[in-house]
Amino acid sequence: MDFLTSPFSLTEDLGIDLGTANTLVASEAKGIILDEPSVVAVYKGTNEVILDGLGVGIEAYAMLGKTPTNIEAIRPLKGGVIADFEITEKLLRYFLQKATEGGSWRKPRVVVAVPSGITTVERRAVINSTERAGARKVYLVDEPMAAGLGVDLPITEAQGSMVVDIGGGTTEVAILALGGPVTIKSVKVAGDDCDEAIISFIRKNHNLQIGPQTAEKLKKTIGSAAPLETEKSMEIAGRDTLKLMPRKAVITSEDVREALQEPLGQILRVVLDCLEEAPPEIGSDLLESGITVVGGGGLLPGFDTFITERTGLPCTIDEDPMTAVARGTARFLEDLDLYSSFLSDGEDLN
Ligand SMILES: Nc1ncnc2c1ncn2[C@@H]1O[C@H](COP(=O)(O)OP(=O)(O)OP(=O)(O)O)[C@@H](O)[C@H]1O
Ligand SMILES: [Mg+2]
Repeated sequence: MDFLTSPFSLTEDLGIDLGTANTLVASEAKGIILDEPSVVAVYKGTNEVILDGLGVGIEAYAMLGKTPTNIEAIRPLKGGVIADFEITEKLLRYFLQKATEGGSWRKPRVVVAVPSGITTVERRAVINSTERAGARKVYLVDEPMAAGLGVDLPITEAQGSMVVDIGGGTTEVAILALGGPVTIKSVKVAGDDCDEAIISFIRKNHNLQIGPQTAEKLKKTIGSAAPLETEKSMEIAGRDTLKLMPRKAVITSEDVREALQEPLGQILRVVLDCLEEAPPEIGSDLLESGITVVGGGGLLPGFDTFITERTGLPCTIDEDPMTAVARGTARFLEDLDLYSSFLSDGEDLN
């Protein structure tokens, strides 16, 4: 038995879903070990993490939009890719340390899920950042493959299946069969764009400027992709765009649904493009297996109805959509050799 993968080994390998909104760390034995916002708080103008390096994740998220003048809360990933390498490395270092606390003395091997659309240069950068943050060896896997394995789709079999991952920064759509993607598309439209759409709708229709946190809260509390049995409303506060003074307003679920039309339409377009490109045999598999949705965007009520009405295919939202990719990365750790065709360790990148 390989010492490194034996149950008595002193090292525990880890899977990471390095997301625009949330980073999750999982292991084969423990499942999800850590699940925190991808946010780092630094002293303004520096890359020095506040609270002696502890201002990462949950603590830093609470500061978004309300930091004192000398502190800045940064989301180092944008559109699914690393916008700030140094800060991302700090985030990874802190999370890896936290996830291995009290455990192994040996550096872990790490499988990191990345958006399928990122460039070779960006792939190398993720490998380097993860190594510098404390990994012994890094393997990259494309998010849709990790999502597929995470929700138990038959990704190595001839049977075609389809997965849609709606995150904070990117939506990944893939039809999978025989150990690889048959078609795969990635678009930088996801949860963050839904929040932006809500902000601009409320500015236009209610003359009220709100922040991204309020927009996200509206989306999560009263947002929907299809009409609700009982429509809802919520009182929010913002700044009047004409009088420039704080003011309250009542926003309805119909308002939010209308605001979401544009980003949801863009996501739907990618799903339809993928389906149109799929070989006919695979298309007929999908009539049975349907579309599986993962990622936080899947939590929007009525998203399954929205997709089924417009594609004619059955649609299932995974029961725990936000952990699907991380669960998948941990499953690759079960047998890195068996799954080697899905994994890249950087040697294959030119
Ligand atoms: N109940 C909900 N309804 C609608 N959207 C939600 C809900 N809960 C979370 N979200 C959204 O899900 C998104 C985060 O999802 P997730 O954690 O899957 O993204 P991520 O993996 O960090 O991002 P990416 O994959 O794009 O890098 C956020 O935009 C958040 O607002
Ligand atoms: Mg994601």
